[in-house]
Amino acid sequence: GAGSGFVVVANRLPVDLERLPDGTKRWKRSPGGLVTALEPVLRNNNGAWVGWAGVPDVDVDPIIEDGLELYPVPLSAEEVADYYEGFSNGTLWPLYHDVIVRPEYHRRWWTAYVDVNRRFAEYTAKVAAEGATVWVQDYQLQLVPKMLRMLRPDLTIGFFLHIPFPPIELFLQMPWRTELVEGLLGADLIGFHLPGGAQNFLYLARRLAGQPTSRGTVGVRAKMGVVQVGFRTVRVGAFPISIASAELDEYSRRRSVRERGAQIRAELGNPKNILLGVDRLDYTKGIDIRLAALEELLQEGKIDPAETVMVQLATPSRERVESYIQMRSDIERQVGRINGEFSRVGYPFVHYLHRPIPREELVSFFVAADVMLVTPLRDGMNLVAKEYVACHSGLNGALVLSEFTGAAAELRQSYLCNPHDLESVKEAILHAIGDDADTRRRRMRALRRQVLAHDVDRWARAFLEALAQDRVAGSALL
Ligand code: G6P
Repeated sequence: GAGSGFVVVANRLPVDLERLPDGTKRWKRSPGGLVTALEPVLRNNNGAWVGWAGVPDVDVDPIIEDGLELYPVPLSAEEVADYYEGFSNGTLWPLYHDVIVRPEYHRRWWTAYVDVNRRFAEYTAKVAAEGATVWVQDYQLQLVPKMLRMLRPDLTIGFFLHIPFPPIELFLQMPWRTELVEGLLGADLIGFHLPGGAQNFLYLARRLAGQPTSRGTVGVRAKMGVVQVGFRTVRVGAFPISIASAELDEYSRRRSVRERGAQIRAELGNPKNILLGVDRLDYTKGIDIRLAALEELLQEGKIDPAETVMVQLATPSRERVESYIQMRSDIERQVGRINGEFSRVGYPFVHYLHRPIPREELVSFFVAADVMLVTPLRDGMNLVAKEYVACHSGLNGALVLSEFTGAAAELRQSYLCNPHDLESVKEAILHAIGDDADTRRRRMRALRRQVLAHDVDRWARAFLEALAQDRVAGSALL
């Protein structure tokens, strides 16, 4: 056929295939910030999406549903273990998040990563129309730009990294560092959330330039946002991602959502302060840190459990990866200890849910919460922080935010804290709870101005316009 003119390639499709106990199948929304951001973009652009359906060993046909074409790439159980749980989430994820846990380097995982990246590239090469724009997403697919360019030199290829790009001192641990950088340099434009990530990548490209690899030597010259690879120009830039702010703002004002928000407060015993955490259950998110801060504040009598509750909504994530299993049990022990010491019968201090939360329910929790706690040790952006802000048109909430999130660069009027410094987290929480209504309103108004003006459409447009300019610059060079 003619193929698609705009193709997104990501490890996951925006929906996961779910196999129910009775053997039937159903699609459900995939977890994580990438899907939150890209789904509306794709719908507005009538694009195709190439990705994995989230379960091993199933081969499903492409699906076309209201303007969105989904192309499922199959993965075997072994590939899920070695490429997804292994190299993507046991090697790259911890390495790129400042080695919060130790990355493992296994040659078998790497081989699977190469094989699966090739499958994504080959599949995409079949789906994309002549001269199409292909937008490759995130750390799971860093080899796809180069592989795809070799198969289809006619394509315009963009790449966006949704997680931090680490400092060169950390990245150089990677046994396959040159291959990864060369893989990315197959793109015409490489996007990061922050200028710091783009800068790290440019240093690295310069440092690795001319280093011999198994496939020969590549000359690279990197300066000022541009890497010259032979006759090709690769541009590198910062594009902070966001959410569909106006839609969420509007949704959060709905009667049904407001009523459910009030009902949640009542169900919690009408406390004066509802504190909220919403995260995938991931060691980067600092769930343990916010709980430790609250435990000390309770012990010191600075928070009264008779008037304050904490709600932690934790979405199950990567449940077969060892570090996630360990962290889950640590957090659940911590929740049990705090509740053992500070709850009354019928009134737990920490309300902890470990399950996916439906969208409408989640928005109602955002609406109900007086203080949102976002305390990652490292996070590329953190869209939950922006979602909370979008849900507070009444200007009545407060956001505690880690300085180590990408969002902190934009949300300067939040209650910022250093998650490595427990006193700083405690202070930010007390500050957020204790500030007078006027101060909180002023801060929330400033946050909302930022989030509503910089929405995900603006992000996508900025990236895709820069990518289209690339094509012009590229052909001018030839
Ligand atoms: C982060 C990553 C995404 C990933 C999501 C959910 O947002 O940047 O690439 O899809 O987490 O994680 P999962 O492993 O379930 O896809």
